[in-house]
Amino acid sequence: MAQSCANLLEQDKQIIAPLYGKADINFVKGEGSYLFDDQGNKYLDFVAGIAVNALGHQNQAIKDAVVDQMGHFNHISNLYPNYPQIELGKKLLEVTKFDKAFFCNSGTEANEGAIKFARKYFDRKGEKNRQKIITFVNSFHGRTYAALSATGQPAIREGFGSMPGDFVHVTWNDCEALKKEVNKDTCAIMLESLAAEGGVMTLSKEMVETINSLQKEFGCLVIVDEVQAGMGRLGTFLGFEKYGLKPDLVSLAKGIGGGLPLGAVLLRQHIADQLKAGDHGTTFGGNPIACAAGLAVTKQIADPALLKNVAERSAQLKAGLNALVEKYAFAKEIRGEGLILGVALDESMPVGNIISAARSEKLMVLSAKGNVLRMLPPLNVSAAECDEALAKLANAFAAAAK
Ligand SMILES: Cc1ncc(COP(=O)(O)O)c(C=O)c1O
Repeated sequence: MAQSCANLLEQDKQIIAPLYGKADINFVKGEGSYLFDDQGNKYLDFVAGIAVNALGHQNQAIKDAVVDQMGHFNHISNLYPNYPQIELGKKLLEVTKFDKAFFCNSGTEANEGAIKFARKYFDRKGEKNRQKIITFVNSFHGRTYAALSATGQPAIREGFGSMPGDFVHVTWNDCEALKKEVNKDTCAIMLESLAAEGGVMTLSKEMVETINSLQKEFGCLVIVDEVQAGMGRLGTFLGFEKYGLKPDLVSLAKGIGGGLPLGAVLLRQHIADQLKAGDHGTTFGGNPIACAAGLAVTKQIADPALLKNVAERSAQLKAGLNALVEKYAFAKEIRGEGLILGVALDESMPVGNIISAARSEKLMVLSAKGNVLRMLPPLNVSAAECDEALAKLANAFAAAAK
């Protein structure tokens, strides 16, 4: 039912738990890279549901897959083999060269699974003292307890009582700090292939080399959180491929479901060999409809033409953003890779000012930690749409600078 935006926001306030600050906008439809509101305004969507709509809105193959699966069954539980889940797993393993897949519903669950599998691996091998998991300051791994404990942002843990122990956070790209923490009691080093929420921070070559050599020297596991940077977003199918990490476990979510709730953990055989029925589980994980959508998504993202588009659009956007960084003193640097791009701003220009100016231009963008403007367009965004975004952003920068 059509409702005015003010009415909708008021109802949201009365009915929905007050956990988010929401913008006064009533989206009624999405199509490709665009969103439409109830006033007939058309917005270029460079938020993409926070990297969820990897193929934009109303992707035909996803729609067809979902409708087709609903004609078979919606859900059967994990008590029985489930064809869409197996097909999606097969495709993911073929593309990534991992050995086993576990399906869940979200990024935080994928990380919980990966953490549990890593600890169970050493426990079954008789190395019960291997508990310590090293993650990074400003990392983001999710909101459930272990993922929250892994997350390197103390502010979002505050007031939630005791956290699962043995999580240590070291500074991003600080090789010496990491070397000091890793020893024979380390279970895993866990990191995002690109720290998106934490400020669109890329990994240094030295850090990748350090992680690879510590993994070899101490036999600890490497868990790469690909929830935001995976599924083609960096121009490679998984983000770590770009940097040369050698993960034992990878967590996926966001883009993999193309808008449906779906998460996954990809495992190497040595980890899977230490797991048994009953060690972990989920009611909804690997839901047939979500997996049918996931297969439609995965097939499209695995297409080299799509990945090439990510690289080309990234270069196009970076060139345009560079002009803004050269023109405005408050814009310090461009950050990111592929289609997770950011502009770090100094304290004289709060990122919120740019986001609202962009919204007036009918461009949706978001922020990352540390006063960083972030853009997450769909991976199939066109060159013309990127030009349009850059023109809107140039106007937004000019308006915010006045
Ligand atoms: C890198 C990373 N890991 C995990 C998560 C948590 O995912 P979810 O919100 O689906 O639980 C996010 C969400 O932003 C993320 O960016």
